[in-house]
Amino acid sequence: MLNFESRNKKLILKYTKQSLFIFLKPNFEMKASDWDLIAKDYYTQVISPLKDCTANPLFSELDFNSWDDKIVLDAGCGAGRLLPTLAKKFYYVYGKDFSKGMIEESKKVTKGMENVNCFVGDLKKSYNEKNKYDVLISVNSLLDPSVLNITKIISVFYSSMKKGGIFLGVLPAMESYLYQSMLFVDKKLAHSNAEKLVEKQMKKQLDAKNFDYSVGRIEFDGLYQKAFYEFEIKYRFQKAGFKNLKIGKVLYDWKEWREAGQTYYPKEQPPWDWYVKCEKPL
Ligand SMILES: C[S@@+](CC[C@H](N)C(=O)[O-])C[C@H]1O[C@@H](n2cnc3c(N)ncnc32)[C@H](O)[C@@H]1O
Repeated sequence: MLNFESRNKKLILKYTKQSLFIFLKPNFEMKASDWDLIAKDYYTQVISPLKDCTANPLFSELDFNSWDDKIVLDAGCGAGRLLPTLAKKFYYVYGKDFSKGMIEESKKVTKGMENVNCFVGDLKKSYNEKNKYDVLISVNSLLDPSVLNITKIISVFYSSMKKGGIFLGVLPAMESYLYQSMLFVDKKLAHSNAEKLVEKQMKKQLDAKNFDYSVGRIEFDGLYQKAFYEFEIKYRFQKAGFKNLKIGKVLYDWKEWREAGQTYYPKEQPPWDWYVKCEKPL
């Protein structure tokens, strides 16, 4: 059993600064029990698009539309940071997560809110949810390192939504890691011609050996998570039946990466996660 508490602080910091860290065992299995370990202090341990971003299109989407007759699912709601906001805007809010610890935290933050129901459930499975939701939100919960599981989850998302329903998601961006590698090399080569050496330094500093660019998967010390290329998002969501796909960026602050001892190029566009909006056709 992985012991989160015993991890050294620097290592945790490194994980948490890499988009969205995950604590998994090898063999590409994502376990609810691993998330239970960090449920209590989740938002102090991680960079979250709900608190650490400098721009998140999800918030403007929620602010500038009317949702008061709509039913929403926060799929993989975690410790529930988004739920109180949703409770104010939507007619009814469901929070679903396979981690009992996360659902306990979600229940705490939504105590007394009569239009919220948080339940333990696997995103790969439907619990009488067919055609149930007007809106389905997934904020960095599509992280399973298995492509089979990712495909299953997207298909359950689709079937759980009403016709005409809207999907709003934040997904880890594989390109963001490539981008940081490029900047590292480029900035160093502005002062050096030692291209091979610079490349070696980049691979060391950015832990390039932990990235499987061919499948979009990241490994931290035997722990795996999915990250998406933009073309992959288009492919997988369209294949599942979604239409009108729009992709934007959730931008983070370079300072987070500097704190993690990685890269810091404040004059350049910061690292990002993908923001995805699409619809289930009528
Ligand atoms: C990175 S956290 C994000 C939590 C929340 N959306 C937020 O942004 O604060 C990912 C969450 O997805 C949940 N999760 C991952 N895979 C899941 C699955 N197959 N079924 C249900 N929940 C899952 C985890 O338990 C965790 O709470």
